[in-house]
Amino acid sequence: MSDKDTSNQTGKTFTLTNDQTGESWQLPVLDGTCGPSVIDVRKLYAQTGHFTFDPSFTSTGSCKSRITYIDGEEGILMHRGYDIAELASKSNFIEVAYLLLYGDLPSQSEYNEFEHNIKYHTMVHEQLINFFKGFRRDAHPMAIMCGVIGGLSAFYHDSLDIWDPRQREISAHRLIAKIPTIAAMTYKYSLGQPFVYPRNDMSYAENFLHMCFSVPAEEYKPNPILTKAMDRIFILHADHEQNASTSTVRLSGSSQANPFACIASGIASLWGPSHGGANQAVLEMLHEIGSKDRIPEFLEKAKDKNDPFRLMGFGHRVYKNYDPRASVLKESCHEVLEDLGITDDPLLEMAMELERIALEDEYFVERKLFPNVDFYSGIILKAMGFNTEMFTVLFALARTVGWTSQWKEMIEEPSLRIGRPRQLYTGPAKRPYVSINDRD
Ligand code: ACO
Repeated sequence: MSDKDTSNQTGKTFTLTNDQTGESWQLPVLDGTCGPSVIDVRKLYAQTGHFTFDPSFTSTGSCKSRITYIDGEEGILMHRGYDIAELASKSNFIEVAYLLLYGDLPSQSEYNEFEHNIKYHTMVHEQLINFFKGFRRDAHPMAIMCGVIGGLSAFYHDSLDIWDPRQREISAHRLIAKIPTIAAMTYKYSLGQPFVYPRNDMSYAENFLHMCFSVPAEEYKPNPILTKAMDRIFILHADHEQNASTSTVRLSGSSQANPFACIASGIASLWGPSHGGANQAVLEMLHEIGSKDRIPEFLEKAKDKNDPFRLMGFGHRVYKNYDPRASVLKESCHEVLEDLGITDDPLLEMAMELERIALEDEYFVERKLFPNVDFYSGIILKAMGFNTEMFTVLFALARTVGWTSQWKEMIEEPSLRIGRPRQLYTGPAKRPYVSINDRD
């Protein structure tokens, strides 16, 4: 964003004073629609010769955005002004994708056209299959996703001009349409089963489950409860404002890299266990705990500062209240397990007990550490039959809509500039080169 953009000014200022020199500066305060005001420091360096220092961005707004709003204290998440719980119960993923990309809910004809565009872009170039063959069967599916999604830029040259709005739109449709196909291929490859082609007579979630669970010898019969839960998981993961992976996509895109490369960078960032990899880590943790009576022992480990163990699926950088997505998924989790006849799943029982104890524990209460979305999504995905390594891939699939919408919004800003954070240098000051024979 350009330094010259003066929108959102309030006329209010924040005064910064240098205690040593007595000099002071008036920094403009900007207001958004909701949420805290921000202090505009874009001219700070030019005016004061100082940078701000905020390594994990806990106090830094990196952009303006009209897409998603989060109030972490109150546990609120809205997309384009619509509450997430309402979208999860009344809408579907295709409609939410339209909302994120275009700004408003679609009319019936807009919906039909968008759904048609997504369905008719689901197939991937047949040569893309060769990419898969280069990977070992035991490769982590996120490794394959990083490579194959980045590789799409080598196949779809006709939509790489980021300055052409129509090409941007085609790339967005291609990404949203093809990512379920590629995710399902990744899954099939890990199992050693043949790839399954997409079907246009199925909904987005149904088609994805079909591509994952169909085999040539036996057709997959869609189960409406599982399809609904899958669609809900997609909606709940669709966007989450400027988290690590979205910021990565924006930073990559700010250099004018093509959208397929930018989304591949987002996938790489999502992979880590502090972010999208947490749903896999939750299941691994539950297995490691093993039984309810060992929960107190693991809670003590989580609280011990000398032990790197953390309670996976608990805590969030922004939510200091119940993650609103976790409340919705908790309900879906019970529906799915009941439908599949898994009424006495020991992992789920353990998860519920862990949640109960942690929510009453002083350490977790004091630090406002609540279950996050990954706590329940892992349990649902396991019940559906996915192996744990696929969990983060499903997150990436859904988040592609958010990443693409955020990328598109950024490119459409008239004054796009490359992102370039600065640093506090703490290395050696200037020193002369010493030849190798003269070193101690
Ligand atoms: N278990 C135990 N203690 C925790 C946990 C946890 N899961 N999360 C935070 N804490 C503690 C920290 O040790 C710290 O304690 P202190 O104040 O005594 O030093 C305090 O709570 C604050 O934690 P931070 O690390 O400052 O919180 P931060 O915002 O940096 O981290 C994060 C957020 C990464 C999500 C963290 O809570 C975590 O590691 N959770 C587990 C992994 C997880 O579930 N990630 C999914 C995030 S949601 C998503 O990406 C969809």
